[in-house]
Amino acid sequence: MLQAVPALLDPLIQPETAHHGHAVDALVEAAFGPGRYAKTAERLREGSRPAAGFVVESLGRVTGAVRLWPIQIGETPALFLGPIAVDAGRRGDGQGAALVQACLDHAHAASASGVLLVGDPPYFQRFGFVAASGVTLPGPVDRRRVLWAPITQASAAGAVRAG
Ligand SMILES: CC(C)(COP(=O)(O)OP(=O)(O)OC[C@H]1O[C@@H](n2cnc3c(N)ncnc32)[C@H](O)[C@@H]1OP(=O)(O)O)[C@@H](O)C(=O)NCCC(=O)NCCS
Repeated sequence: MLQAVPALLDPLIQPETAHHGHAVDALVEAAFGPGRYAKTAERLREGSRPAAGFVVESLGRVTGAVRLWPIQIGETPALFLGPIAVDAGRRGDGQGAALVQACLDHAHAASASGVLLVGDPPYFQRFGFVAASGVTLPGPVDRRRVLWAPITQASAAGAVRAG
């Protein structure tokens, strides 16, 4: 007979701490591979420290992770979201959505201007991300994938650099 899963076994979203570091790196490596370091988005992260990070821990295992980074868009401070990754065996059960929402909640609490990312519009539009047509990233990127979630600022414009 099936038994109800105790609430304690439900995935828990929590702030990333130093002890999650290796598990997060492994998750991101599995999702994106070593080629991720060549991405333009990586230019905004290298040499920087995350402003925040969130993980989903399920039965003591990290199954989802996301980070937020401080950036400047022109003269405006903002947050850059990524990478976001969910364990391949756990996709489609809402962990990604919970992680994006945790980032947006953090951005609201911090009264950030908004959250920028490079990602698939069909996934991120559901959270309120819109095309960020006025921003320039430090390298080649498909402009249709540059997205902005407004928090205190409806739009963003200018050159983007690590903040
Ligand atoms: C993208 C990712 C983080 C989503 O995590 P998740 O836990 O599966 O997401 P959720 O459960 O919240 O949402 C699942 C829904 O999003 C859809 N979805 C997932 N990735 C998508 C994408 N790239 N484009 C469009 N829709 C997508 C799924 O089809 C599913 O749709 P449904 O709700 O209609 O069934 C996960 O698929 C992942 O780690 N992918 C590999 C790394 C990656 O591509 N990161 C994002 C860079 S753009």
